[in-house]
Amino acid sequence: MAAQSDQSDEAVRRFREAVARGETPRTQPAALVAELFDGLAERFEKHLVGRLQYRVPHRVADIVLGRHPQRRLDLLDLGCGTGLLGLCLGRIDGDLAGVDLSARMLDQAAPLGIYTRLRQGDALVELHDTPAQSHDCITACDVFIYVGDLSDLIAAAYRALRPGGALIFSCEQADATEGDLCLRASGRYAHSRISIAGLCRNAGFAECRFEDIMLRLEADHPIAGCIVVAEKR
Ligand SMILES: C[S@@+](CC[C@H](N)C(=O)[O-])C[C@H]1O[C@@H](n2cnc3c(N)ncnc32)[C@H](O)[C@@H]1O
Repeated sequence: MAAQSDQSDEAVRRFREAVARGETPRTQPAALVAELFDGLAERFEKHLVGRLQYRVPHRVADIVLGRHPQRRLDLLDLGCGTGLLGLCLGRIDGDLAGVDLSARMLDQAAPLGIYTRLRQGDALVELHDTPAQSHDCITACDVFIYVGDLSDLIAAAYRALRPGGALIFSCEQADATEGDLCLRASGRYAHSRISIAGLCRNAGFAECRFEDIMLRLEADHPIAGCIVVAEKR
């Protein structure tokens, strides 16, 4: 246990040093993300939905239900947090599983009784533990902005989806000066559309559609982003 904590302390230190040097680390340590959201969990919904006008789970739920009007599907919600996507979806006829790094966020999701399974852990590890072709939908609302390099996640999601299934996720939109992957001063990653389309294509997705969305406010300014729907044939 102590050795594990030493390792994550070391990863956090290296990450912070790289940021201080002006570099863009390819990803950020899980311990840092878990600590951030453990601290935010109790006021997360009030703050994000109430004050920052966060609507990504609403839109993603609409897209999911548009694809599955009978509500018959198995869905894995990566970085499910307090369970907003489950709340927006309501009951489905199938498995609704959630995974999140933050135990405190999951503590908020559990009493809803909407998710059939909640697990604390990393999204990529969860996908590797998920049988191939076992899900109709994999979602990630405002999660990949904390992950950075998405190549392994997108490939692992492709493997876990059934033919006809979709990976649906939001991203902050990198502008022309930011390159393919940028760690912003906010501590969140932004991705270029070209890089995301390339990763989805390389993973095997047949089609990748982008929908513009105002993700949330930050210091009263709207943050531009997109919802990506990557379809497996
Ligand atoms: C902004 S919150 C969004 C929560 C939820 N998806 C929603 O839309 O309300 C981001 C969530 O992603 C989780 N998260 C970030 N990176 C993760 C990872 N690699 N694996 C699992 N969860 C992660 C965080 O712990 C946090 O709960």
